[in-house]
Amino acid sequence: MKKTFLFVTLMSGLIALQSCESKKEEVVGSNSTETVDTVPLTPIVEAVGNPTDVKADPGTFQVKPLKYGYDELNEYIDAKTMETHFSKHYLTYINNMNKALKEAGNKSSNIEGILKSMDMNNAALRNNAGGYYNHLMYFDIMSPNAQKEPSGELLTKINETFGSLEQLKDQLSDAAAKRFGSGWAWLVVKEDGQLAVTSTPNQDNPLMPGVETPGKPILGIDVWEHAYYLKYQNKRADYVTAFFNVLDWKEVESNYNKAK
Ligand SMILES: [Fe+2]
Repeated sequence: MKKTFLFVTLMSGLIALQSCESKKEEVVGSNSTETVDTVPLTPIVEAVGNPTDVKADPGTFQVKPLKYGYDELNEYIDAKTMETHFSKHYLTYINNMNKALKEAGNKSSNIEGILKSMDMNNAALRNNAGGYYNHLMYFDIMSPNAQKEPSGELLTKINETFGSLEQLKDQLSDAAAKRFGSGWAWLVVKEDGQLAVTSTPNQDNPLMPGVETPGKPILGIDVWEHAYYLKYQNKRADYVTAFFNVLDWKEVESNYNKAK
């Protein structure tokens, strides 16, 4: 009886050991061969939908079609993130903003006017109108065929204000990194025509009353985790660096020319 028990115990140990070994794989380095534990990677599920299928409920504001497919920024922002961001988050902001406007008896279709005269105690309107406007800009200034640098008057203004484009990017990255929790990093044109970098929490933006640096946004970086978590997890800085590869300065220039 004791012998049988000992045999079963030994066999169990051997099976357990073999099982552990099967979770290791050989890694051939330049000077040595070693085994390391393999970590199962979570695959990023490919997008399955089409941006043109995204429709808001009846209301004042509707979806502005995405100018590119969900997978066209894939190298920097994965298709599933783009799909969820556009077809779920953005759509929800639009539908909820339309409801909040209706509840507030606000029939305006001027989004900038709505933001500038925002009752900051109206959380539903503040969050959802901000969410609508902020995402509209974010999706518009990204492109698979992005103009990589600003030109003309905007470039001159950036050099005058920040020293160089790289220094502006550093300031934007810094603003994005320092925004605790969810929010946005912005390049704005202030009332006096000068450029400034700022950030806002949640879905607030620089058009709203009482913000730290008021101005007209011409570039917005979404630093909510929903914008980057699938591909970058907690590495917000890596996402911001990647974002600059799909940032279309042609659109930012167009925003600047309207705002200055
Ligand atoms: Fe977002």
